[in-house]
Amino acid sequence: MPDPANPADGGLLVVLAPGIASPELAGLDIEATAEALPLIVDAETALEWTAPEWRALAEQAGQPFAGVPAPATSVPIDCSLVPCVALTYDDGPSGYTPQLLDALAAQRASATFFLIGSAVPGGADTVRRTVAEGHEVASHTMSHPDLTTLSAAAARAQVRDAAALIEQTAGVPVTMFRPPYGAVNAAVIDAVGMPAILWSVDTNDWRRPGVDVLIDRAVNGVSPGGIVLFHDTHLDSVTAAPAIVEGLRDRGFEPVTVSELFGGSVPAGRVSSR
Ligand code: NI
Repeated sequence: MPDPANPADGGLLVVLAPGIASPELAGLDIEATAEALPLIVDAETALEWTAPEWRALAEQAGQPFAGVPAPATSVPIDCSLVPCVALTYDDGPSGYTPQLLDALAAQRASATFFLIGSAVPGGADTVRRTVAEGHEVASHTMSHPDLTTLSAAAARAQVRDAAALIEQTAGVPVTMFRPPYGAVNAAVIDAVGMPAILWSVDTNDWRRPGVDVLIDRAVNGVSPGGIVLFHDTHLDSVTAAPAIVEGLRDRGFEPVTVSELFGGSVPAGRVSSR
């Protein structure tokens, strides 16, 4: 048997914890492993088991280090298994949006941006960057009216015109909207024909409560499946983003887009959490 403390031939040292039970062991009248059991997996098998990054590293044995492939930047997250939270930002694109995108990219976190159509042409590069970096974009109307005060045709045009503009700019389909002021009713939803995304946590960032309060509201106020409302037109919400992502992950939550929160199938009608 090779020396478990020194698997120098490229083998993998695996230590089975005490108390492992298996049908195979039971067949040998062994209820469970009694003590930690070191095993060496031979090099060939170990390479089959391990991640591409490790294989690339192992294949460079004896050669100058040439780096390893970067891990995939976006691993699909199953929010039926993992507690997820959707961070959402309204009223952009704004001059602060690039700073927010920098912060989210640094932590590989995704968010959803509800864009105002009239701001899209002036912020087209930011909109394209938002999509290119894996975030979701959706409609927040052309000019931010209370949709419940409009005719069905006007409400539909407010949402759909902005959606079309975003689609033309970013080259992705827009399938959701957020009604300004959260003002929505059945007539608006029928007229628009898209899910109306509301929220479960309103940070009230527009009242300028300060960065620390925003962090506390977002991190400690949210439950699994929650949707948190911010505005990327407020610098404090952008400044707070790194600590919010970190705080959510400390609680075991993963920040995702609204579509990811629902596994790609956002329900129709009024939606405020999973
Ligand atoms: Ni708004």
